[in-house]
Amino acid sequence: AEGGLVDPFGRSVTYLRVSVTDRCDFRCTYCMAENMSFLPKKDLLTLDELDRLCTAFISRGVRKLRLTGGEPLVRKNIMHLVRQLGRHIGYGLDELTLTTNGSQLARHAEELADCGVRRINVSLDTLDPEKFRRITRWGDFSRVMEGLDAAQKAGIAIKLNAVALKDFNAPEMPDLIRFAHGRGMDLTVIETMPMGEIEEDRTDRYLPLSKLRTDLEQQFTFQDLAYRTGGPARYVKVAETGGRLGFITPMTHNFCESCNRVRLTCTGTLYMCLGQNDAADLRSVLRTSESDANLHAAIDDAISRKPKGHDFIIDRSNNRPSVGRHMSVTGG
Ligand code: GTP
Ligand code: 5AD
Ligand code: SF4
Repeated sequence: AEGGLVDPFGRSVTYLRVSVTDRCDFRCTYCMAENMSFLPKKDLLTLDELDRLCTAFISRGVRKLRLTGGEPLVRKNIMHLVRQLGRHIGYGLDELTLTTNGSQLARHAEELADCGVRRINVSLDTLDPEKFRRITRWGDFSRVMEGLDAAQKAGIAIKLNAVALKDFNAPEMPDLIRFAHGRGMDLTVIETMPMGEIEEDRTDRYLPLSKLRTDLEQQFTFQDLAYRTGGPARYVKVAETGGRLGFITPMTHNFCESCNRVRLTCTGTLYMCLGQNDAADLRSVLRTSESDANLHAAIDDAISRKPKGHDFIIDRSNNRPSVGRHMSVTGG
C-alpha cells in the first residue's frame, strides 16, 4: 500500500491523534468517573512502537500529530517520544502538538519547544481555583497557571479548551474570553459529548453553544473568521478583545462531513471515529512482523471502514452514554 489515506466518503486522513496513556492526574467530572480502572502497564505499546506507528501514518500523508491521553505528560519518558516525532517536522509532518491539562507543563515547556512543538492546547474550564478543584476533583489551579506561563515563556502558542457546562462555567465565559485574549491565547468552547459512564447526569449540564453564543453577543461583537487549524473549531474574532474564540459543536452542528482524523490509543487500537465503537487492532499486526507491509494493509483496511459520523445523543429520556468508552481512552 502506498499513497494517501482516503476514506469511502472521499475524506483525506491527515490528522492523527495519539493517546499515549489512559491515565490522568485529574478526574474531570464530565470526562471520568472518580474510580476508573486503568490499563495494566504491560498492555501499553512501548514508546518505540508508538513511534513506529506514527511514522507509518506520516508516510501515508498524516501531516498533523497530536499527543493526548489521559494526560500525555504523565506517560513515563514521554519526552523521548516527542523528540523522536519532532524529527519528522518539515519532512512530511507540519505540526506536532499536544492537548494537556497543564499540570506538568511547567517542567516540560522548554523541552517541548526545543523538540519543535509550536502550539499546544490546554484544558481550562474555570478561573476560580475552588471551582477548578471541584471540576477536576483535586487539581491545583496554580500549577496550571505556572504551566501556561512557562509555555508562553518558551514561545509556545496556546489554545485554551473549556467544556461549556450549564450552571458551572457558563456565567464565567466572558472572564475566560478576556483572560485568554488578554494573554494572547485562543479559546475554544466545547459541547459536552456523551462518552462513558460518569457520576453526573450530562443532560443537566449540557449547554448548546448556539445559546451561549447568543448570550455572549449581548456584550461582545463577533466577526466570523476563515482561520482553521485542521481541528473542528469554527472561529470568530472578538472585536472588543482582538482575540480568537472557537466553537466546537459536535452536538448542535456536527462537522463530520469535513472529518480528517483518526485516533490511536496507547494499546495500538485505532478508532476511526470518536463517536463510534468500531476499531482496528494495530498492535497485533505491529508485533507479528518487522516489515511494515502488513501494517499498511491493516491501516488501509481500517480507513476503508471509517464511518460517516457519530450519532451522539444527549437526552433526558435516555441517559446512557452514546459511546461506552470514556473520552480519556482517545483523548478527545
Ligand atoms: P486544534 O488543532 O487546535 O484545532 O485542536 P483540536 O480541536 O483538533 O483538538 P483538541 O484536543 O483541542 O480538541 C478539542 C475538543 O474537540 C475536544 O473535546 C475533542 O474531543 C473535540 N474534537 C476534536 N476532534 C473531534 C472530532 O473529530 N469529533 C468530535 N466529535 N469531537 C472532536
Ligand atoms: N465532552 C467534550 N469534551 C470533553 N473533554 C473531555 N471530556 C469531554 C466530553 N465528555 C475535553 C477536555 C479536553 C479535550 C481533549 O476534551 O476538556 O480539553
Ligand atoms: Fe470525524 Fe467521527 Fe469526529 Fe465526526 S465524530 S468529526 S466523523 S471523528
